Amino acid sequence: MRDGGLPDLTGQRVLITGASGHIGAGIARRFAAAGAAVAVHARREDDRINGLVDELRSITTTTAEGAHPHTSTTDRPEFLKAGAMTTAVFADLDAAGAADDLVAQAVRALGGLDGLVNNAGVQPVTPLAALTRAEWDAVHRTNLSAVFDLSRAAASVMARGSWITHIASVEASRPASGHAHYAAAKAGVVMHARAAALEYGPHGIRVNTVSPGLIDRPGLAEDWPAGVASWLAQVPLGRLGSAEDVGNACVLLASPAASFITGQDLAVDGGMLTTPGW
Ligand SMILES: NC(=O)c1ccc[n+]([C@@H]2O[C@H](COP(=O)([O-])OP(=O)(O)OC[C@H]3O[C@@H](n4cnc5c(N)ncnc54)[C@H](OP(=O)(O)O)[C@@H]3O)[C@@H](O)[C@H]2O)c1
Repeated sequence: MRDGGLPDLTGQRVLITGASGHIGAGIARRFAAAGAAVAVHARREDDRINGLVDELRSITTTTAEGAHPHTSTTDRPEFLKAGAMTTAVFADLDAAGAADDLVAQAVRALGGLDGLVNNAGVQPVTPLAALTRAEWDAVHRTNLSAVFDLSRAAASVMARGSWITHIASVEASRPASGHAHYAAAKAGVVMHARAAALEYGPHGIRVNTVSPGLIDRPGLAEDWPAGVASWLAQVPLGRLGSAEDVGNACVLLASPAASFITGQDLAVDGGMLTTPGW
């Protein structure tokens, strides 16, 4: 069932990377609830992505069956007309040629591409003194180079009015210990979006970033009690974020209401970046 509290994205065809993960699944849920057709990406087929596809199809089938009678479905592929507006697509984003292949899979499945959420990423923790060049490169390959590759592949098939949103992090501007490689890559993602906004803008493609703060997940408080306590002691809105908070921001940036917004970084952090830090 479409969520009437969200902008109406009916007719948009959106690829979301890393949807087998926690935040990616939350983003996909919000796009489906906004009426979009989604291609959810995973490294490979497994229970997580199969379960998400089943869940989203139960949302979008209801939506396609009548919530938006004003929206034409005549130019959609058959499976979209039938209401199954979710499909899974697969790629190891570190592999050569993965971006072109993944975008081609999404275009085949959805009949085109109007939006891309670059969410997939890795978050290893290693102090700088112990960080190897190989680990630095691996984090940059997945978190930054794959974002460049996917954006280029997507932009090449996108029409005017399309958009790309990268998931960066508050760590792009405020690094945490053990995350120099991660923070540097995320800062690169923010700047890639600004540069891409400049160059893709004349082609009618908007590019923004969403920077989450600490996002809750099952087991987080048990795995990292000190981090959660420290966050809760400082964050102005007094809670952790949710994957759906991140998804809501992505939906907002995808909506017609954001049609003049590009090259921006939207923090979804409960106000943490406003804190003085001393
Ligand atoms: N969690 C937070 O508090 C937080 C805060 C700020 C920003 N972020 C960012 O939010 C995004 C999602 O994070 P998350 O917490 O949801 O992490 P997660 O649960 O570990 O999900 C990451 C997703 O990316 C996929 N992925 C990673 N490397 C890949 C590769 N080489 N090829 C294909 N898929 C790959 C993972 O697939 P596999 O499971 O198969 O590896 C998984 O689907 C990341 O970009 C992260 O940096 C997270």
